[in-house]
Amino acid sequence: MPGPILIFDSGVGGLSVAASIRERLPDAALAYVCDNAMLPYGTKPDDWLVARIAAVCERAVTVSGASALVVACNTASTLALEVLRARLTIPVVGTVPAIKPAAAASRSGVIALLATSATVNRPYTKRLIDTFAAHCRVLRLAADPLVGEAERCLAGGSADEAVIEACLAPLWREAALDSVVLGCTHFPLLRERLVAASPRPVAWIDSGAAIARRVADVVTAVAPCRAAQQAWATAVQAAPAAALKAHGFPCLEALTLPTDAVTPAPLVR
Ligand code: DGL
Repeated sequence: MPGPILIFDSGVGGLSVAASIRERLPDAALAYVCDNAMLPYGTKPDDWLVARIAAVCERAVTVSGASALVVACNTASTLALEVLRARLTIPVVGTVPAIKPAAAASRSGVIALLATSATVNRPYTKRLIDTFAAHCRVLRLAADPLVGEAERCLAGGSADEAVIEACLAPLWREAALDSVVLGCTHFPLLRERLVAASPRPVAWIDSGAAIARRVADVVTAVAPCRAAQQAWATAVQAAPAAALKAHGFPCLEALTLPTDAVTPAPLVR
């Protein structure tokens, strides 16, 4: 029998992508893996991240028997998709900031990318902007504290409005801004709070529906959803376990990496 579609993120941000895939493919079994022992990814150095992401994904694909891998993390996808595709034999679908649809839909030609520090600074992201948004003014805004806010909210805690307002403040200096790309999969999970913290309406654009369409195109056979919706974490902790359970992944197990793949966490940039 074919395996589930495995969704990978550093934390619970991939649950925003899981929701879009469930909407598109309600009969498909999903599995989830998060590298929460090393959360957040967005402030860690690239060479360390590539090795870590490859080790976690390879191990998770093996233990889950997945038929496809969805890298539900912009920070990982803008860096490690090629390496993952070279090392895995199953289809790998990535998540990259929705610059293209945002630039196409913007009336004013002023848009923003809200993402992790790593994503806003990546050459991959610059290429996306040069290719699809050359006619726009694009504000690139790092908002790493929103990752922690999303993790806390999904585990049943409350968001710190002051943190959210501080992260968004630079957006409102752009009078003509009309669209904001949510270039981190954690951020759509805070959508209502982002809207509430906005002094004026803008379009908030994420990649969830586009990823789900791509998954439906590349996945030809998948386990039926009556199979258990299993999840793995590199650190089994109460908060992500609660969030995963509330979003359809009731069984959380520890993902044990081969000892030669376990490197110490690097200093943040
Ligand atoms: N959810 C991840 C993304 O889409 C990043 C979170 C993190 O910094 O670990 O970029």
